[in-house]
Amino acid sequence: MSPPSYAILGTGSYAPARIMTNEDLSKVVDTSDEWIFSRTGIKERHIAADDELTSDMATAAAEKALADAKVTPDQIDICIVATLTPDLPMPSTACIVQAKLGLRHDVACFDQHAACSGFIYALDTAWALLQSGRYRHALVIGAEKISTVLDWSDRTTCVLFGDAAGAVVLGPSPEGSTAEIIGAKLYSEGGNTELLCIPGGGAAYPVPGPGDPPKFMQMKGREIFKFAVREMEDAAQDILEQHQIHPDEVNCVIPHQANLRIIDSLAKFLKLPEDRFFVNLERYGNTSAASIPLAIDEARRSGRLPNGSISLFVAFGAGLTYGSALVRW
Ligand code: UT7
Repeated sequence: MSPPSYAILGTGSYAPARIMTNEDLSKVVDTSDEWIFSRTGIKERHIAADDELTSDMATAAAEKALADAKVTPDQIDICIVATLTPDLPMPSTACIVQAKLGLRHDVACFDQHAACSGFIYALDTAWALLQSGRYRHALVIGAEKISTVLDWSDRTTCVLFGDAAGAVVLGPSPEGSTAEIIGAKLYSEGGNTELLCIPGGGAAYPVPGPGDPPKFMQMKGREIFKFAVREMEDAAQDILEQHQIHPDEVNCVIPHQANLRIIDSLAKFLKLPEDRFFVNLERYGNTSAASIPLAIDEARRSGRLPNGSISLFVAFGAGLTYGSALVRW
């Protein structure tokens, strides 16, 4: 008997109520709606309330994904939260989410840190664990309160990001159903720390003092842009070739939502029209590990992922990391 294949049984997402427009930002830093929109495609982003934590957003998205999948919390065997903004350095946000959702105690709960590629990393990890045959259902969540690691006086970073969460439930494919994961592939290029990092607050500089690097995100935007264009293309091409799928067979590409110019460049490389790409960064900005699951949920709910269609997910982030996954809905 062949092992069961695993499918995305349900999706959910959550964004905080507060919306910050480019116009709002131009009152905080020296920027403009014209600059932000023309360079990135972003118009606005959601910002979590002070008392709203990554685990709260993760839990809200997970509850919707569970309801969508018609899977109860006690059926979950694995809970992974992809995040670079955990509630606390310890314990994992996944354990906090476990308690909030009321998951069983014999559940593997852990955080996955691959920055903006985190969701693809978590998806592949959960899928591999399910394929071991030891687990049946997994919750895979991407959640970020990235507003807490931004330097709100640095216009080169603070205009790009927003807070949100997205989640999927994975489980054995019910008979006749689709949404199966075809494949996934992960990559890393360590040694590029200085291109995109939060230098302070870790073991190197636990409590940054005068002269130490800060606890805020620092980024060499142009270098990251070039890396993103190059490696998104590689990751997309690699997985399509591996599974012998022609780019034209991909009905919907769901890329990491960082910059519309990066997405346009991937569209040109794959020779696909723009309408094959699902893009929502205009309303959310870059939500890091939440970006792809949030987009998957919105794409599904807007009818962009009909049964039998093929989707390509492709992401890049700090590390540097990147990765891709293919799903047949
Ligand atoms: O998930 C991974 C996260 N990181 C990314 O996705 C970042 C990838 N990189 C990018 O998206 C782009 O490089 C940025 C949007 C960050 C920047 O766009 P760019 O076209 O590469 O601009 P630039 O860095 O070359 O800066 C051009 C000019 C500079 O002024 P000068 O030196 O030409 O006088 C900047 O100081 O734009 C200036 N600038 C701004 N002006 C108004 C930089 N940020 C802003 C701003 N508002 N917010």
